[in-house]
Amino acid sequence: MPRSVLVTALLPEPGTARLLAAGLQVNQHQLAAPLGRDELLAGIGGRAALLSVLTDRIDDAVLDAAGPDLRVVANFAVGYDNIDVAAATARGIVVTNTPDVLTEATADLAWALLLAASRRVIEGDALIRRGEWTGWRPSQLLGAAVQGRTLGILGLGKIGSAVARRGTGFGMRVIYHNRSRNFRAEGVTGARYVGLDELLETSDFLSLHSPLTPETRHVIDAAALARMQPTAVLVNTGRGPLIDEVALVDALRDRRIAAAGLDVFEQEPALAPGLVELDNVVLLPHIGSATTEARGAMVELCCANIVATLEGRRPLTPLNPEVLAR
Ligand code: GLV
Repeated sequence: MPRSVLVTALLPEPGTARLLAAGLQVNQHQLAAPLGRDELLAGIGGRAALLSVLTDRIDDAVLDAAGPDLRVVANFAVGYDNIDVAAATARGIVVTNTPDVLTEATADLAWALLLAASRRVIEGDALIRRGEWTGWRPSQLLGAAVQGRTLGILGLGKIGSAVARRGTGFGMRVIYHNRSRNFRAEGVTGARYVGLDELLETSDFLSLHSPLTPETRHVIDAAALARMQPTAVLVNTGRGPLIDEVALVDALRDRRIAAAGLDVFEQEPALAPGLVELDNVVLLPHIGSATTEARGAMVELCCANIVATLEGRRPLTPLNPEVLAR
C-alpha cells in the first residue's frame, strides 16, 4: 500500500504534484480554511507524513493519534511555535520548516506596513473612498519621514536582516537587539548592536522579527511601550504574541506611540478590543509571505522535505537534525 500524506490545507500552485510523482498517496483538505483540530486528530492516524500549516497545533495528542508510521511533519511556515518539536524528536519524527524562500517577501511586507503607517496611506485611501477629499491642502495627512531616522530591528535573523538592508537603502541608521550578537548580519547590514532598552528608547521605527518562544512572548508589553518615543512606529510581521495587544491598543489610543503596522495578532483571527477603531494602526491578515513566488516555493520545499525523508534522504531544512543521525 502506498504511504500516505495528510495535507491540512488547500495549497497554492504547484500543489502536491511532487508528492504524487513520488508515489505517495495524498489526502489534502479541500477547503481554504485549514482542517479543524478534531478532523486533524481523526485524520492523522497511520499517515507517514503531515504537511501542516501555522494554525495547526502539533502536540503530543496529535503525535499520539498519528501512531508509529509518522516520519515527518513539514510545516508550511518559517515559524514553528505551533509545533512541539521536542515531542516530535522524542518520537524520532523529523520536523521541517520553510526558511529562506519567504525572507524577501516578508521583508517587503514589513516595509509596506512601515511606510503605510508612517505616511498614513490607509487613512488617505479611506478619505477618498468616503468622498471627503475636497482637494490638496498644505497640512493634510502629514506623516513621518524615514530618511535619516533610526530603524530598530528586534531579531536580526534572515528576515530582520532583509528589513535592515532595505532600511540602509532608505538612508536610515539601523540598530538591533538579539539574544546574542549576530556579527555576520552586522557585517552585511551595517546594523549596530544595542541593549533592548536602548532599542526601545531610540528606535524611530521598530520592526519585530524574533521567533515566538516563552522568553519573547509579550516582549513588547506596557513597560516596553512606555519606553518608546511618542513619535515611534511599531511594525510586527513576526508573531502576534510578541506584543501585548491590549497594552498596544492603550498606547496607540493615548498616542504614547505614534502608529503601528500589524500583520500578525495574538489570537488570530480575533483582534484585541478597540484595535479596529484606531486610525493610527494598519492591519493586515497575516500575509507576510503571501506572494505567488514565495508561497509556491514554500509548497515545493515542504514537498521536497517530505519526499526526501520518506525516501531515507536528508530533508533540506530539518529543525531537529539529531533525529536523522539515529
Ligand atoms: C508565517 O508566518 C511563517 O512563519 O512563515
